[in-house]
Amino acid sequence: MSGTDSSVACGQFQTVPLSELDFPGQPYSVTVLKAGYCLPQTDGTFRADGTITLITGPRTILVDTGGPWDRDFLLTTLKERGLEPGDVNVVVGTHGHSDHVGNLSVFPAAVMIVGYDVSEGDTYRPNQLAEGQAYSIDKQVTVVPSPGHTGQDVSVQVTETSAGTVLVAGDLFECCSDEDSWRDLSINTAVQEVNRQEALRTADVIIPGHGLPFRVLRN
Ligand SMILES: [Fe+2]
Repeated sequence: MSGTDSSVACGQFQTVPLSELDFPGQPYSVTVLKAGYCLPQTDGTFRADGTITLITGPRTILVDTGGPWDRDFLLTTLKERGLEPGDVNVVVGTHGHSDHVGNLSVFPAAVMIVGYDVSEGDTYRPNQLAEGQAYSIDKQVTVVPSPGHTGQDVSVQVTETSAGTVLVAGDLFECCSDEDSWRDLSINTAVQEVNRQEALRTADVIIPGHGLPFRVLRN
């Protein structure tokens, strides 16, 4: 596990940005297909895209689909891995922003978990995400409610990888060093702070919504 030698304070935890995009595991591996970004422009706009992550194992799970402009990238990248859209069993949209859920329609046959909605086709399945209960995809892959950035964010926790527990966090974290930016993008900073601390307590690696993965250092 290589990283830079610059660790960053994140509340009471230290975090270290990583260069790896692959976290192999048994039975599930996690791969960042595209690291998200957020780049302020001189004209007051900013260019942004959400991180796209693939989880492979007994089931094939895509976490966030990027913006609508990522459609060809997504199709090509999946094909390079021998996957057609129909091979993706579950698509998770961490929250309903356009740079994260721009390509849901590429996967009409997948189970969709978007925020707190769980659906297959036009059938919506009861779940307790809104009550704070996790939703299990498999023994090692769990959808965890983690609101604050919006009212209905979810993260995906994958256990038993070579890097330990990996959390695909959506915009719960913007990037490794987001202490000066995440609050401006949050609809409920108090709730988000609680969920960030819980993530930092339980995950070994966090994949943020707009940056490279980072490792959490604990004493
Ligand atoms: Fe967002």
